Amino acid sequence: MSRVYVFDHPLIQHKLTHIRDKNTGTKEFRELVEEVAMLMAYEITRDLPLEEVEIETPVAPAKAKVLAGKKLGLIPILRAGLGMVDGILRLIPAAKVGHIGLYRDPETLQPVEYYIKLPTDIDERELIVIDPMLATGGSAAAALAALKKRGARSLKLMCLIAAPEGIARVQEEHPDVDIYAAAVDERLNEKGYIVPGLGDAGDRLFGTK
Ligand code: PRP
Ligand code: URA
Repeated sequence: MSRVYVFDHPLIQHKLTHIRDKNTGTKEFRELVEEVAMLMAYEITRDLPLEEVEIETPVAPAKAKVLAGKKLGLIPILRAGLGMVDGILRLIPAAKVGHIGLYRDPETLQPVEYYIKLPTDIDERELIVIDPMLATGGSAAAALAALKKRGARSLKLMCLIAAPEGIARVQEEHPDVDIYAAAVDERLNEKGYIVPGLGDAGDRLFGTK
């Protein structure tokens, strides 16, 4: 069974409150999503392995640590996942970025795949799948399955807000994938929106309706 980590850092919680607020406009919403993504990236990379190297400071030779191990890859689920990419890249600028285009059919709530472009070496990378909203879990589960089908072996899922229903679905279909969220909300409403949530993440990020 995969684990669920909820980032309760005060800065993340404060910014998430403004993201949720319906009076927050597109510009501020976008900036806040990017900032929270950066803060979450700081937390999610906490267990990255380090190795020792030898350097010379202006004062003396020194043994110091640098990142070791697998290279990272970010996989935003289009569209809304795009809003989190730049914030994460500010902390891990060398990460490669693959894209999975999925939208949720408004009637059936089933994910429809329309685009996929990935780094060639996803089997060698630690991949972080990014989407602000984990609602029914259909989109995330489909994205994870598409990545595994193409060779991905190490996957994490990062979202701003998760619903219990989405967590259960990902845990059921992808027990090897840990989930990282800034909040776990109460439930889904009859239209599949997270309650209280933040509304439609893609529309709020890009100013569409
Ligand atoms: C939203 C969101 C997720 C999905 C979550 O995308 O960004 O991808 O819904 O819902 P689920 O867990 O029930 O699948 P949407 O389909 O609205 O597309 P968009 O990002 O292009 O707006
Ligand atoms: N997608 C969103 O953008 N918001 C929700 O609450 C659920 C799915």
